[in-house]
Amino acid sequence: MLKIILLSDLHIADNGVEIWNTDTLSHFISAKHIIENDSDADAIIICGDIADDGSLWAYKLVTSELDQLKVPVYYVPGNHDSIDNMSAIVNPESFLKSFVIDDWKFILLNSVMPNPETPLKNMARGMLDTSTIYRLKVELDTDYNICVVMHHPPIEQEGWLNRKLLDNKDDFNSIIAEHQNVKLVFYGHTHFHSIREIGHTKFICVPSIGFAFDKDLPKFQIDNGKEGFLKLILNGDDIDCTKFLIK
Ligand SMILES: [Fe+2]
Repeated sequence: MLKIILLSDLHIADNGVEIWNTDTLSHFISAKHIIENDSDADAIIICGDIADDGSLWAYKLVTSELDQLKVPVYYVPGNHDSIDNMSAIVNPESFLKSFVIDDWKFILLNSVMPNPETPLKNMARGMLDTSTIYRLKVELDTDYNICVVMHHPPIEQEGWLNRKLLDNKDDFNSIIAEHQNVKLVFYGHTHFHSIREIGHTKFICVPSIGFAFDKDLPKFQIDNGKEGFLKLILNGDDIDCTKFLIK
């Protein structure tokens, strides 16, 4: 049995200042205190937007807090992250690599699309570049059960959340459809938890720790109190996913 903790969209700003009138730093600290009860977890995976502004301060804070839990932590970047600053702080073995636990292989992909006009700010929508698609195909050639992790949703979302998806989601999904061993795909970006099963794969959108949205609320209206994270239990063919609120 595997226990995996899934976090996403922390949006911690430089020096921990509030954004959108929201204290995202205290949300993260609250989540960390809950996760302290899960010291037996096999891994913590963060699906991007660790920082709101790509600051070194945010990466130092998050890595030093989570390292105290003594559980391996793995990271993919989101559109709000600076890949340069992240890779300067995060353990290289935990950043955009693949790892195996028991009969599961986790493949971490970079879906961030740089904006050539504003090098310090990425595009909001995502894309898997040619080398990432090639790596994915190579990594999928295995007998392990597969879980793919990235920041951008590779399938349609509900309501106004159906925006800024993975540009080349059709390419991604045709690869996934050809590989029966891909059981799970995780992503964030929408700040709204959802689960959808397509063929042999469960697509799980990880909720935001920083601030939540809702498909039924107006665009960008914060859904206070819905911030949270997921705990995943993988036991044979059983996949059990539970959402935890942080307050
Ligand atoms: Fe985000």
